[in-house]
Amino acid sequence: MKQIGIIGVGYVGLTTAACLAEMGHQVIGIDTDRQKVALLGQGQIPFSEPQLPELVERNLRAGSLSFTTHYSEALRDADMVFICVGTPSSPSGHADLSQVEAAARQIARFATRSLIVVLKSTVPPGGNAEWLADILQANLPSTIKAPLVVNPEFLREGSAVYDCFHPDRVVVGAWDTAAAEEVAGLYVPLQCPILLTDPASAQMTKYASNAFLATKISFINEIARVAERIGANIHAVAQGMGFDGRIGAEFLESGLGYGGSCFPKDVLALSAIAEQHGYSSQLLQAVMEINATQREWAVLKLEQALVSLQDKAICVLGLAFKPDTDDVREAPALELINMLCQRGAQVQAYDPVAIPTAQKVLPPHAGLRYCGDAYEAIQGSDAILIATHWPEFRSLDWDRVRSTMAGSTVLDGRGLLSSDQMRTLGFEYLAFAS
Ligand SMILES: NC(=O)c1ccc[n+]([C@@H]2O[C@H](COP(=O)([O-])OP(=O)(O)OC[C@H]3O[C@@H](n4cnc5c(N)ncnc54)[C@H](O)[C@@H]3O)[C@@H](O)[C@H]2O)c1
Repeated sequence: MKQIGIIGVGYVGLTTAACLAEMGHQVIGIDTDRQKVALLGQGQIPFSEPQLPELVERNLRAGSLSFTTHYSEALRDADMVFICVGTPSSPSGHADLSQVEAAARQIARFATRSLIVVLKSTVPPGGNAEWLADILQANLPSTIKAPLVVNPEFLREGSAVYDCFHPDRVVVGAWDTAAAEEVAGLYVPLQCPILLTDPASAQMTKYASNAFLATKISFINEIARVAERIGANIHAVAQGMGFDGRIGAEFLESGLGYGGSCFPKDVLALSAIAEQHGYSSQLLQAVMEINATQREWAVLKLEQALVSLQDKAICVLGLAFKPDTDDVREAPALELINMLCQRGAQVQAYDPVAIPTAQKVLPPHAGLRYCGDAYEAIQGSDAILIATHWPEFRSLDWDRVRSTMAGSTVLDGRGLLSSDQMRTLGFEYLAFAS
C-alpha cells in the first residue's frame, strides 16, 4: 500500500484518486477549488461521470480516500504525488502550464520527505519535463529527492472509471529507473502492457495518440465531403474501411467533428510545439482546418434547407461534447448555438445532463431557451440538429417528433439515425453523404 497525493481532482485526478484508493492505496486529493473539495468531502461529485460517485463514496466511507485544500496535509506522508491539474490552451496555442508550475512549486514548498512526482497532466515534450524537474530540484532542500515520472493519462470521459481499471496500455517515462519501476508497479494488478521509456517519449506518445485519433475523424470528414459530391454513402464507406483490422472501425464517424477537453487543445499544442522547434506540420494544420469547417458546413446545410435562419426555431439535441458526460469544453454544440443565434435563429436546446455546464459558459442569447426534455425542445421547431451522440435521441418516438415539429428538417450531425427510416417517416433528413 502506498500513500498517494493527487493534485487537482477534476475528471482525471478524481478518477485516478478513486481508482487508486479502490486498489488498496491511501489517497488524499488536493484541490485549490474550496467548493469542489467541500462537495467531495460530502461524497458529492461536481461533474457527471458514470460509476464515479459510487467509487468515491465507497472509498470515502472506507477511509482510503479523503480531500483537502492543504498541500501540507496531503504531502506529509506521501510516497508519491500525482499532478493532475489542467493544461488548457493559451492564446498562442501552446499548452498553458501555469497550473502545473504552481503544483510543482507547492510540492517543493510543502514536501517534508522524499517522494516521487508523477506528471499525469498532458504536457508537451521538448523541454517541459526538464523545466519541471528543475523547479522541483531548485526549490527543495538538498536532503529531499523528488524524481519526476511522466505517466500520461488516456482515459475517456464517459467511461473514465472503466478505462482506469482496464487501460489498453500504461506509459511511464522517467530518467530515474527505480522511480519508474515503482510507478509502473501500481499498474501491475491491471494486467495491461506497461511501456517504460524516457519522459519526452512518454509525453510524445500521449500527443501522438490524440493527434492520430483526431486525424482519423478529420480524415473521414474529408472523405465524406468527396463522397457527398459523387453520391457515395459515407456510413457504408466507413463500415467497409473499419472491417480492415489495420484501420479499425472507431473514430470513423463523419459529422460535426471532434471537440472536448483534449483533442482540440492537444492537436493545437503539438502543432505549436513543432513550430517552436522549427517544423510546420501541414498534416496537423489540415486536421484542425477540416474540423473547424465542419461546424460551418452544418450551419450552411440548415440555411440551405430553411432558406434563411432568421426567426427559425432550431432544436439542438445535445450540448456535451460526447455522451455520458456533462463536459462542454470545446463542444461543437456550443459553437453551433452561437452561430445559429448570430444568424437570428431561435434555439431550443436540450441535453440529458449538460444544461447546467452549458449555461455557465454560453453567453446569454435572447434567442436561446433551454428545455426540460427532448420533446419540449422539439415542439414547434422548424429543424432539429443532433449535436451529441446520446443514445436516448435514437430511441425518441420519431413519429411523434414529426407531428410536433413545425417543419420536417433533421440534420443528424452524429450519424445517429437511419436515413431510410427517417425519410420514410416524412423527414427531410440531412447528414453527410448518406
Ligand atoms: N479530461 C480528460 O478526458 C482527460 C483525459 C486524459 C488526459 N487529460 C489531461 O489531464 C489533465 C487534467 O484534465 P482534467 O480534464 O481532469 O482537468 P480539470 O479542469 O477537470 O481538473 C483540474 C483540477 O485541477 C485543479 N487545480 C488547478 N490548479 C491547481 C493547483 N495549483 N493545485 C491544486 N489543484 C489545482 C482545478 O481546480 C481542477 O479541479 C489535463 O492536462 C488534460 O489534458 C484529460
